[in-house]
Amino acid sequence: MLEDIAVALNADLEDVNLNHFPDGETYLRFECDLTQRDLIILSSLNDPNPKLLPLLFMADTAKALGAKRVILCAPYLAYMRQDKQFKKGEGITSRYFADIISNHFDALVTVDPHLHRIHDLSEIYRIPTQVIHAAPIIREWVKAHINNPVFFGPDEESKQWVKAVAADAPVVVFEKTRIDSQHVNIVAPDLSGYQSHQPVLIDDIISTAHTMLRSIDILTQQGLKPPLCIGVHGLFSQHAIDSLQHASIARLVTCNTIAHPSNAIELTEPVVRAIRALL
Ligand code: R5P
Repeated sequence: MLEDIAVALNADLEDVNLNHFPDGETYLRFECDLTQRDLIILSSLNDPNPKLLPLLFMADTAKALGAKRVILCAPYLAYMRQDKQFKKGEGITSRYFADIISNHFDALVTVDPHLHRIHDLSEIYRIPTQVIHAAPIIREWVKAHINNPVFFGPDEESKQWVKAVAADAPVVVFEKTRIDSQHVNIVAPDLSGYQSHQPVLIDDIISTAHTMLRSIDILTQQGLKPPLCIGVHGLFSQHAIDSLQHASIARLVTCNTIAHPSNAIELTEPVVRAIRALL
């Protein structure tokens, strides 16, 4: 994505020497002149913790070297799911993360952040943001590849994506109860009317894949065809890919917000448009 964005924006692709001191501390050095230039840093924020400190140092260093603005382009935005205190003693890390990013960057570009109880990034981010919606592009992809689809969302949170992708096609949203990060319980209505359709399961994030796998089980148990599984952001934590490869699915497809062999839906163009809108 990086080279394509740079070409489309007619921007210079500059090197940064990012390294570690022997004790593990971060060393970085820009090898270009940043005076009065806009710097765009592209870094998807899957596995965010090891990426964060180097990113903050890059932003601060660029500013110290005279950069005009430092824009973070994070196609996947981390820490959006802990958007409330679910249990006593927890923190609302969505807010803390947004504070950290807002303190170091001048603007943010991202794709479909997990907005649920927080309805707009401006509720927690204090910098200009551009949000790209993948749904219209996923819709075109499905139209070009799938006949007679029926769309399924595994939970209430997925409804916004599933409905936007489905347009006039039938949509069924299941009910999910999350027991913990490893276990979910999903219930679905009678689906016998959809046996001649091609099921398309859509979620914004596939992490452990338990949500997808439980939904796939339901479709299989009810005698539907193996589903096409679409995730906007494929995080694929732990054994997710292994489990999905052994599940009864037609295909696994993701958007290119996190580089992975399942990437089939291209969002580079809208990302370029969003960056352009900030420049
Ligand atoms: C949460 O509500 C999200 O929309 C996804 O459903 C969730 O992150 C998927 O997680 P996992 O793949 O671990 O079940």
